[in-house]
Amino acid sequence: MNFPRDWPEPIIRVQSLSESCEDKIPDRYVKPPEARPSVAAGPETEEANIPLIDLGLLNAGDEELRRKTLRQVSEACREWGFFQVVNHGVEPELMDRAREVWREFFHEPMEVKQRYANSPTTYEGYGSRLGVEKGAILDWSDYYYLHYLPCNLRDFNKWPFLPSHLREVITEYSTEVVRLGGELLKILSINLGLRQDYLQNAFGGDDVGACLRVNFYPKCPQPDLALGLSSHSDPGGMTFLLPDQNVPGLQVRRGDGWITVKPAPHAFIVNIGDQIQVMSNAIYKSVEHRVIVNSAQERVSLAYFYNPKSDLLIQPADELVSPDRPALYPAMTFDQYRLYIRTKGPKGKSQLLELKSPR
Ligand code: OGA
Ligand code: NI
Repeated sequence: MNFPRDWPEPIIRVQSLSESCEDKIPDRYVKPPEARPSVAAGPETEEANIPLIDLGLLNAGDEELRRKTLRQVSEACREWGFFQVVNHGVEPELMDRAREVWREFFHEPMEVKQRYANSPTTYEGYGSRLGVEKGAILDWSDYYYLHYLPCNLRDFNKWPFLPSHLREVITEYSTEVVRLGGELLKILSINLGLRQDYLQNAFGGDDVGACLRVNFYPKCPQPDLALGLSSHSDPGGMTFLLPDQNVPGLQVRRGDGWITVKPAPHAFIVNIGDQIQVMSNAIYKSVEHRVIVNSAQERVSLAYFYNPKSDLLIQPADELVSPDRPALYPAMTFDQYRLYIRTKGPKGKSQLLELKSPR
């Protein structure tokens, strides 16, 4: 496949549109009726939330609490694909600084941001669309995408130089999130009955990938017609989302409906990506999610993707394959997989997985 080196159409910054479009959004952002966020959620879905798990209980010295907590994580991975964690070891104050430094970046003058305008070859930098299909209906958001790991992809010249403390804050934040990622991979490995370093090794050991997408969702005058981020599942291993503390927006697929996540104070929202669905032979689910927007407040979120090394073959763990449960997926590298996603943009659950999921 010949991957395009540039976007198929001129890029329009959603933030600029939001400031200029008054009460009507351009047609390019109007979703077809079946994809629009429905206004009325049933009473059940209004109350529901994804599981909230206290990771502090894993090391509190109480074996029963530790086992109970492991079970909670296991259930969340099987049944929700999503959970929130508190007492995860990342300082609340650092989480706030990381989010707010990015909010400041998005409020820098446009010429500062444009220096980092991205292209579809690597997606690194300041972007306003995912996917390269000409004429696609677009999402109501801008973003910034950068690599932290592997080290050879970390290029500070591709990180914003303003605000001046951004690089420092984001380095500190990244170190912490990567540590947390390693801990969770251990927990998932243990829960799957694998050696505790199984997933980390299958991800490439010290060569794992870690990249950050900062999402900026400007105010939208017609939030019932648009989406901040279309329904998708995350292609990588595992995602650590730092949501906006004050503005909800993330919705998670549950049966036929959507649950709007209510962020707990200084929690991370963790979700299983497609690669862990593959490695766990679909015991763990990578679940569809999307983001709704609103007319009153902008929203900033930091999605940290913890990924396998990009050229390793990813396949179901031998221990999870049996005559009764054959391997549901063929081996494929994350590079091959991501190319498909980067061409199509966010489109529900990747067909690559959907066709193979057990019923
Ligand atoms: C993502 C994502 C959710 C959010 O970046 O993949 O799902 O709340 N973000 O911004
Ligand atoms: Ni996502």
